[in-house]
Amino acid sequence: MAESGTNKSFESLVGHSPSLEALVRTAQIAAATDVHILIEGETGTGKELMAHAIHAVSTRSDRPFVTVNSAALPHELVESLLFGHEKGAFTGAHESKEGYVRRAHTGTLFLDEIGELPLAIQAKLLRFIEYGEVHPLGSTAKENVDIRIIAATNRNLIDMVDSGEFRRDLFYRLNVVPLHIPPLRERNRDIPELVMHFLQLAAQRNTSDPVKFSHKALEALRRYPWPGNVRELRNVCEHVAALMPGQTVCVDRLPLELHVKSPNQRSSTGFELPTGGIDMELLEIDLIKQALAQAAGNKSEAARLLGLTRDAFMYRLKKFGL
Ligand SMILES: Nc1ncnc2c1ncn2[C@@H]1O[C@H](COP(=O)(O)OP(=O)(O)OP(=O)(O)O)[C@@H](O)[C@H]1O
Ligand SMILES: [Mg+2]
Repeated sequence: MAESGTNKSFESLVGHSPSLEALVRTAQIAAATDVHILIEGETGTGKELMAHAIHAVSTRSDRPFVTVNSAALPHELVESLLFGHEKGAFTGAHESKEGYVRRAHTGTLFLDEIGELPLAIQAKLLRFIEYGEVHPLGSTAKENVDIRIIAATNRNLIDMVDSGEFRRDLFYRLNVVPLHIPPLRERNRDIPELVMHFLQLAAQRNTSDPVKFSHKALEALRRYPWPGNVRELRNVCEHVAALMPGQTVCVDRLPLELHVKSPNQRSSTGFELPTGGIDMELLEIDLIKQALAQAAGNKSEAARLLGLTRDAFMYRLKKFGL
């Protein structure tokens, strides 16, 4: 593994918090081997960035890197999209297709959102991992394929294993080197560095002077819980860079929803907890529904009504399956 290559690709992961640095060290060691890797982390934590970095320093770096978004594969076509098919294998198969797995031969297959793969396909994937052979649909021949799998998920796979939604044997095959990317709120000392990085990128792209955040604005960014993680932070930086080029952004010029106050700074809402208690989750779902109704389905407006960023709002919609 070329040392300079190592630094270069993992350098795209900005941040020096101890948890990120420890993770990068483990990832570098794993990258040099050929084991399959499972990257876990909430949405926007940098799983895809990490997968690219691992590939870039691996012995397969000059070979293909093929990304498969498991959640976007139409159910009835998953098998043929992954493992390929022969012409005439099924109605509509007008020509043969090699499939993602064969396309990644000698390289890396990035299986994003692996928790979304149907159980039947999980079984086929496991078989492929064990034998290294692909059986394209409609073909009697087998083909040897050599790939490294990097899988990613923002779901808790072990919970899915317990509930029977994910195969335990596949989980253990992929989880040889588990890499868990911590949420941004657990490494908020990375925030100033990330902010600087995104503001510089935005200034270069817009050919404008970089924006600066005032001390208090930066503090507000550090306090905010970032449910959309680094992606949400990047979006906020791009937003201010576009609207206030060259300016110093003070706390009240931050997007409205970011005027987060620490709990003891917040004034009371006046809401009184009934003596019998409440169902917090139900209340949250109810408020989200009301905000959506009031905003006539406009999600940005509904988010504003609830004092949330759009990312934070979208996160809740997904979490509650709304
Ligand atoms: N440590 C980091 N340094 C610099 N940029 C980062 C970092 N982590 C994430 N990003 C950026 O944040 C955005 C989201 O990252 P990425 O797409 O890798 O997240 P993800 O975990 O795959 O998200 P999802 O689960 O929603 O697919 C990208 O623009 C990425 O470049
Ligand atoms: Mg991703």
